[in-house]
Amino acid sequence: VRIVVTAGPTREYLDDVRFLSNPSSGRMGVACAQEALHRGHHVVLVAGPLECDPPKGVRLVRVESAREMARALRREFPRADALVMTAAVSDYRPARRVRGKIKKTLRTMTLRLVRNPDIVAGLARRKGRRLIVGFAVEARALERNALEKMRRKRLDLIVANSPSSFGAHVADFVILWPDGRREVLRGAPKRRLARRLLDILEAHRAAGGRTSS
Ligand code: C5P
Repeated sequence: VRIVVTAGPTREYLDDVRFLSNPSSGRMGVACAQEALHRGHHVVLVAGPLECDPPKGVRLVRVESAREMARALRREFPRADALVMTAAVSDYRPARRVRGKIKKTLRTMTLRLVRNPDIVAGLARRKGRRLIVGFAVEARALERNALEKMRRKRLDLIVANSPSSFGAHVADFVILWPDGRREVLRGAPKRRLARRLLDILEAHRAAGGRTSS
């Protein structure tokens, strides 16, 4: 199976030395890539800046901004059978990037932000039989918000987790299916969640594209 995995945060530069980002470590995506490789699948890892080493054996595509990630995925997704979208994509970027370094001459500074494209929602509109797994970090109403996101973005599966799982090795996860099924993994290492997602993905392929567990 040809699997594209995204990992890590994106960086949205306001000048050449400053950016907006988030604390994603990339560990979840790296765990998925490792597990997929281990099972003999072909893996493309589209990665923002990572705090951990990418596994040897993947085809690594390094990106920084959300727009670079979108461009890389427009190339990789049509050739893939599945996409696991663990990346913490920045929702906004500075309206313009200043060349060089902004001087601190002003006492206050207003930053104008514009929305980034929703990458996975855009790809899902033309997914055909490909399986797409999304992730949702929710500070409250975890499952309700994650379910709403899965349906709105037309994903086949979503993993809901809380902001405390950013950068963590172990976390609580809820896997949600569009038909309302749910599975809870409490205190699970990211590797364990990766194994479960790969089980689901392989079963989905074996069933000819229907999302069964
Ligand atoms: O909307 P939210 O960021 O919570 O959705 C999370 C899911 O959507 C993740 O799988 C993330 O990788 C993806 N996403 C995206 N493009 C964005 C924002 C999020 O593909 N601009």
